Amino acid sequence: MSNKIIIAIDGTSSTGKSTLAKRLAKKLNYIYIDSGAMYRALTHYALDKKYITESVFDSQKLIKDINNINIDFQLNKDNDKYEIHLNDIPVEKHIRTLTVSNYVSRIATIGELRKHMVKVQHSLGAGKGIIMDGRDIGTVVFPNAELKFYLDASTELRAKRRFKELIDNRHDITYDEVLSNIKLRDEQDINRKNSPLKAASDSIIIKTDKLNLSELEDVMFSYITPLISNK
Ligand code: CDP
Repeated sequence: MSNKIIIAIDGTSSTGKSTLAKRLAKKLNYIYIDSGAMYRALTHYALDKKYITESVFDSQKLIKDINNINIDFQLNKDNDKYEIHLNDIPVEKHIRTLTVSNYVSRIATIGELRKHMVKVQHSLGAGKGIIMDGRDIGTVVFPNAELKFYLDASTELRAKRRFKELIDNRHDITYDEVLSNIKLRDEQDINRKNSPLKAASDSIIIKTDKLNLSELEDVMFSYITPLISNK
């Protein structure tokens, strides 16, 4: 038996947040929630409806639709993974594109949309035994989480990591496109008025430049273990 806790993992793009969150959730038998995938799914919806284009962003139309947009994670029995669904349609493949990446941080600036997402995140993560990663998990979504991590690394290294990941997944993309997308999102995420990306004052800040995934996992586990073992 162990104590179940809430673990919040925030930070900039491509610092290892979601890879680590998944690994930790599997080992701990916790629920993992990828809050970024939720903002990406919302962006996919807005692009599909043409509420956001190169020249237009009609946030009011998106806000009006928000109660009819159902975003959740459903088990894919073929690969035994929980995958994001938008109104019951699997959209995992559509949300990792450069187009979605280039618009998502603008969608994520809108307070009304964020409020709705936080409500959904609370309902998905009701109870303990949750690991959620994103930009505002330790500051806004679960300010009382027992454990908060904030991961960061240099911009160039993060771009290299994300470029490799996208190429491995057969995306047609250049390193420069990835680098400028990461810079654009950092800038928008850090400087927005609503729930900006920042480390919670009680978070453990880890620079991941010099750590491989298992070293990072060991560091994170060294903080988790004392909190979950029965005293
Ligand atoms: O995987 P990566 O770290 O690049 O991004 P993500 O977690 O998929 O998040 C995509 C975008 O969604 C971020 O750049 C933020 O603009 C937004 N986001 C947010 O505002 N709040 C969250 N809790 C999670 C993501």
